[in-house]
Amino acid sequence: MSILVLYASKHGATQGIAERIAVTLTASGQRVTVRPVQDVGAIDGYDAFVIGSAVYMGHWLKPAAEFVASHRELLAAHPVWLFSSGPLGTEPTNAEGKDLRQASEPRETAELLAAVHPRQHRGFFGALDPGALTLPERALRRLPAARAIMPAGDFRDWAEIEQWAKDIIEELTTGTAEKTAQ
Ligand SMILES: Cc1cc2nc3c(=O)[nH]c(=O)nc-3n(C[C@H](O)[C@H](O)[C@H](O)COP(=O)(O)O)c2cc1C
Repeated sequence: MSILVLYASKHGATQGIAERIAVTLTASGQRVTVRPVQDVGAIDGYDAFVIGSAVYMGHWLKPAAEFVASHRELLAAHPVWLFSSGPLGTEPTNAEGKDLRQASEPRETAELLAAVHPRQHRGFFGALDPGALTLPERALRRLPAARAIMPAGDFRDWAEIEQWAKDIIEELTTGTAEKTAQ
């Protein structure tokens, strides 16, 4: 299987998730290419796609959303897995008791699902390095409402990320990922 893993990352956390997914897929004997979504050339010739973006202010990064929209036909005809790198912190649920990864789904989720009918759209906890933030991001983070939901730290769960990649391999290699455009 030839798999293309694409990511949109502003400060590197999502890139790290994509690279770990790629390493896990490669270790299982798949041919894997991992690239920032902005730099990808031709995308024909791949059997499956994994595409992820960081979530900022409730949205996927524009290059990732635009990539999916502009390649929707080809993607819809292949097995696709989407992921978002979003919430921060160690609490699995928000103040209302809702799963934080679901509560942090990007606003494009419905559009993304309708465009490419992914096998799954998975949310992962992300990472925030205060030293890497831009000035506007720092200012935003100082707002009282933002403080609680934007703790500094690396909250990526590598075991969960690797397991997700293994689940993708399982689905691809057992033939359950055969798919036509819906
Ligand atoms: C200014 C700013 C806004 C953010 N907005 C959201 C958001 O709306 N929802 C969310 O789940 N995470 C949000 N986050 C957390 C990031 O998505 C998380 O840190 C992510 O892992 C960053 O990925 P990157 O390093 O690849 O850019 C925000 C972080 C910053 C700095």
